[in-house]
Amino acid sequence: MKTKAEASAPGKVILLGEHFVVHGEPAIVLAIDRRVTVTVKVRSDSRVFIKSEDLGISGFFKNDQFFPQRGDGEAKRRLEPIYAVAKEIIQKCGSNNGVNIEVKSSLPIAAGLGSSAAVSVASAAALCSLFDFKESKDNIFQIAFNAEKIIHGNPSGVDPAISTYGGILQYRKSKPIRRLHVNIDLPLVIGNTKKERSTGTLVAKVNNLRRRYPQIIGKIIRAGGEIVERSVRALREGDLETLGELMNINHELLSAIGVSCMELEKLVHAARNAGALGAKLTGAGGGGCMIALVSPEKIKDVADAIEMAGGEVLITRKTDACLLYTSPSPRDLSTSRMPSSA
Ligand code: MEV
Repeated sequence: MKTKAEASAPGKVILLGEHFVVHGEPAIVLAIDRRVTVTVKVRSDSRVFIKSEDLGISGFFKNDQFFPQRGDGEAKRRLEPIYAVAKEIIQKCGSNNGVNIEVKSSLPIAAGLGSSAAVSVASAAALCSLFDFKESKDNIFQIAFNAEKIIHGNPSGVDPAISTYGGILQYRKSKPIRRLHVNIDLPLVIGNTKKERSTGTLVAKVNNLRRRYPQIIGKIIRAGGEIVERSVRALREGDLETLGELMNINHELLSAIGVSCMELEKLVHAARNAGALGAKLTGAGGGGCMIALVSPEKIKDVADAIEMAGGEVLITRKTDACLLYTSPSPRDLSTSRMPSSA
């Protein structure tokens, strides 16, 4: 066992297919170069102490009971999934030691950029490294996915998958994950409404709508899947105009199932009016972030327009960012279910 270990995992943007992916359709998701870093240290007692400086919360778990230090009820809700990850790994390792877990993030929270999944993935990886426990990436994904279920109720698994495997993935629940090799640049401007929201609540809202209008919502969900299939072709052909158009259609479908909001609409329309090839909400919606696909010469115009409409801008490109062990790395991670190429 080491005394200290660290791992980091990237956030993501969903290019196409959020929400529909919960209902069995495919989604396309990209890792972004904003990351969460988790540092873990062994304790001599059995407590699990967790601190997130960015969120201003901390506290420790002892025998499944939470004792807040900073942040109170909020702290418990946000730290519980990390505790679930720690508990599972400590049990698997048969250790009697507790741990200190410190989270640092350059991702906005509850904004649709996958911060909670990145925290779970990086925590799982750092803890495995600490206890010299050889886990495959597939298992790290599964542990993080279990933790995500605590926060989001019925997630598809797309967020922990991209934080674990990185790059660009075509993700479909319970199906092999496909890595997409995209040879073109994908300049994206992200606009954050700064309105926090809960993924679990929005996923439940769509489930409820589907229960009430199964025929109508079922067709919208399937159309969402068809957009993804068509977009994979556009991506392969480097056809950004078609991709942008499909993103616009995808956004309108998300609006139809009730997960957009005034703040997102403002940013989406500002980006389109400023010359974006396509713009849509990304992630669960209800606030959080939108993305605009732009040709390089339009980046500034689109970013300015998003800012003028009240958004906070972040510019990103596709990246090969994936789960990283910054120190010290665990022995040879096997990657048995690594995504196949497409
Ligand atoms: C959240 O990033 C994406 C959703 O599709 C939920 C999920 O897939 O778990 C809204």
